[in-house]
Amino acid sequence: MSQIPTYVTGVPNGTEKGLYLAVDLGGTNFRVCSVTLNGDTTFNLTYNKVAIPKELMVTDKASKLFAFLALQIENFLKEHHSEHFESHRRRRATISTPSGYREDEVFHLGFTFSFPVQQLAINKGNLMRWTKGFDIEDAVGKDVCALLQTEIDKLKLPVKVAALVNDTVGTLMARSYTSTGAQRSTLGAIFGTGTNGAYIEKTSNIKKKIEGEYDESTGEMVINTEWGSFDNQLNVLPTTPWDKELDTKSVNPGFQMFEKRISGMFLGEITRLAILEMMQSKDSTLFRDDNSSHNDWTTTTTVASQSGLYKQWGLDTAIMSVAAADSTPELSTLRQELEKDLNIYTPSLEDAQAFKTVADAVARRAARLSAVAIGAVAIQSGLLKDPEAEVIDIGVDGSLVEHYPFFRDMIYEALRSIDEIGIQGASKIRIGVAKDGSGVGAALIALVAAKMDKSSGS
Ligand code: GLC
Repeated sequence: MSQIPTYVTGVPNGTEKGLYLAVDLGGTNFRVCSVTLNGDTTFNLTYNKVAIPKELMVTDKASKLFAFLALQIENFLKEHHSEHFESHRRRRATISTPSGYREDEVFHLGFTFSFPVQQLAINKGNLMRWTKGFDIEDAVGKDVCALLQTEIDKLKLPVKVAALVNDTVGTLMARSYTSTGAQRSTLGAIFGTGTNGAYIEKTSNIKKKIEGEYDESTGEMVINTEWGSFDNQLNVLPTTPWDKELDTKSVNPGFQMFEKRISGMFLGEITRLAILEMMQSKDSTLFRDDNSSHNDWTTTTTVASQSGLYKQWGLDTAIMSVAAADSTPELSTLRQELEKDLNIYTPSLEDAQAFKTVADAVARRAARLSAVAIGAVAIQSGLLKDPEAEVIDIGVDGSLVEHYPFFRDMIYEALRSIDEIGIQGASKIRIGVAKDGSGVGAALIALVAAKMDKSSGS
């Protein structure tokens, strides 16, 4: 795994204060928000969210994507901070700093960029590789903060990219800021479009050379594990033919092998491939109604071409959540959804049951693998054996933990079955959702960065 030092050496305690900007690029949407940290473990957050146009996710020039991001920041400032923004604009002409703004007029921005980055400083990091369907070769190896700052400067916005943050680090920060209990959080993890975790490690355990400046006084640093890429080289994970097919046809074959078995972006596709194979096996009656031509699944029919079952990524993980949530004997909600979403004409109870069994198995495997990652960090933290530590707190975010029924329960169940953890150990582990990690967490790191900036006089 990449195990990336993040230059973040402490976690907040809830007393931090101020107004910061945060942006979040990492999945299907781009979010811009301003966060007011109230200093009493609470915060107020305003945000805009836009879908990232598909053509900007896979494009030739990085500047096209980053220009789009800068434009969203401008729109956000105009909409939500117009007073502040306009007074900057008016005064800019008379001020002689390079950017045209007074230092105290500039928003410090935390950039949540949720892809593997070789971090070189708190506000500097080179993109190692894209994940989650993005593919812009031109950006690989470049400092993503500089790419964003360049586009911000072209629009003459009063914004300084102050901190580069992975969403898992943001989640860890947000959870620590908002949790009122005595026990600080050990791990921030995402189970959403992708999966990853960041945890607190003793600096003495870090073997990598840490180049830039950081606060050494805490003796700790947050490490971004990039556990989504676990097994890229090892090939130890249990593999089904559908995992193989998904991987071969993905934009990054051989990469993110752990993530491809866990995260929301992929579970639907694994399920689709498994279901399709069942449908195509000899004598299969799945989703077939011999009395009607509606479910004629020979690939050349309109029925097949209109169903997501026959298209790559055509089965959204959301329908698996519907399957998991439907516990009625008739599975009526699921059957309606199969009809509406996948264009299956009047699916029978048996069809829906088969779908639910496959979807449950795919999700359960994902939860069990998630528990492996969480369990590993719990073991590494030493807290399982520490009688003083009553709780091992874990902040999580992402669509799977938030919306997939029983996902967290399945993780707990799996943790109990790991020998080194056991029932007693698992009862210490507390997994709690940290909402808005990418907003409030990034704001908190921007705050630390702004302080560092001030004290170094730059
Ligand atoms: C992918 C990214 C990682 C991110 C995770 C969750 O695994 O590589 O940086 O944290 O998705 O969004």
